[in-house]
Amino acid sequence: MAKYEIIGGNPLNGQVVISGAKNAVVGILPATLLVQGKCRIENVPNISDVRILLDILRSMNAQFEWVDHSTLEIDTTGVKSCEPDSSLVTKLRASYYLMGALLGRFGKAHVALPGGCNFASRPIDQHIKGFLALGADVDETDEYIELSAGADGLQGARISLDVVSVGATINIMLAATLMPGQTIIENAAKEPHIVDLANFLNTMGARITGAGTDTVKIRGVKALKGGTYTVIPDQIEAGTYMAAAVATGGDVLVQNVIPKHLECITTRLREMGAKITEFDDSIRVQREGSLRRITVKTMPYPGFPTDMQAQICVCMSLANGISRLTESVYETRFFGYCSELESMGANIQINGKTASITGTDKLFGTTVRANDLRAGAALVIAGLAAEGTTYVENIHYVERGYERLIEKLTALGAQIRRIED
Ligand code: EPZ
Repeated sequence: MAKYEIIGGNPLNGQVVISGAKNAVVGILPATLLVQGKCRIENVPNISDVRILLDILRSMNAQFEWVDHSTLEIDTTGVKSCEPDSSLVTKLRASYYLMGALLGRFGKAHVALPGGCNFASRPIDQHIKGFLALGADVDETDEYIELSAGADGLQGARISLDVVSVGATINIMLAATLMPGQTIIENAAKEPHIVDLANFLNTMGARITGAGTDTVKIRGVKALKGGTYTVIPDQIEAGTYMAAAVATGGDVLVQNVIPKHLECITTRLREMGAKITEFDDSIRVQREGSLRRITVKTMPYPGFPTDMQAQICVCMSLANGISRLTESVYETRFFGYCSELESMGANIQINGKTASITGTDKLFGTTVRANDLRAGAALVIAGLAAEGTTYVENIHYVERGYERLIEKLTALGAQIRRIED
């Protein structure tokens, strides 16, 4: 298995360009199944989650090509099957979006249960609730989900989610886009990638309003046509580099961002003492002096993202005093990385949903293991900030969500290389 070797202690300085948003693209690629014709999608990150989804679509007879390093042209007209390859589907979490897209296109779907990061129990009961409300029959086993049109057919419906769920919001949008009637999703998730998917679908001819609010309305249309769409920048990749600049004491201009999407992260890093300057499509992060302790609670957007929990924890472990970090989305997320950080010298006490982090002067390099995507990113940040050499194992998790990580960090002055075992 490959690992990163990181020689820590170098402040990150310079510029980094953020790639397209993973959590938007993993919804947009399944959405191309709803389109009759060719879609040209720009600012697509070339990461393993994207490559696996493209492998799944190709195995279903979709045609695609990379026009350049970040532009895809994809045509799913030739797809006839509603049963994607389960050996591929189980490789990532977002494959469950194929359920909504195939139900929306064919009126049926047979999709293996997803894989991906297992830092918490990740039920899909709200997705199922949506499919049932739309008139689907659902056969759920511990291996797959089978969807088909119920006796009364498929029809738009009003669905009130019991939990704010990104995945369920996206899956219901995909299922409802071509369905007759109007669908209303109440208590919908408001993340930027929800809005991006709605904008993609509307560019192709859908009629979706309210994305980004807690009520999304989808008026079913008969067909979508091909077109061109540019994916938004990745909010969490940007936040990860911002946290790395703070943790290493650097000065980084993070380019190709939407500052509004980063407001919750910017606010917290400023509270810690970072100097942050916002421009139209970039943000400069400078660490000046020591870091102050802060209190953070993760929340659905526009709150502080749960996907930044591990990264801000590294900054807290280097701040003066005791910081408090409360997780409100995935209770067990701390266990993906806190013991690894402690092996580097961090002082973290977990008590239920809240971790107390007592800051220390420095972390020390050692061998650590990534247990999920964002945990791995946090351990890379810790290695960059630590004294000595850190080996991060299980980096396939990290490479699921961070495009050209070595190249981008090296350009910022990091001493990091990938070692194949
Ligand atoms: C998406 O996961 C993201 N993944 C996650 O990012 C992110 O952490 C999460 O949203 C929250 O922002 C992708 O977009 C591919 P949820 P998702 O449904 O959709 C509960 C990363 O690092 N819930 O919003 O699975 C659930 O248990 C990944 O890029 C139900 O109870 O998250 C959780 O407590 C990791 N029933 C809460 O809702 C359901 O049917 C939020 O989950 C669905 C969810």
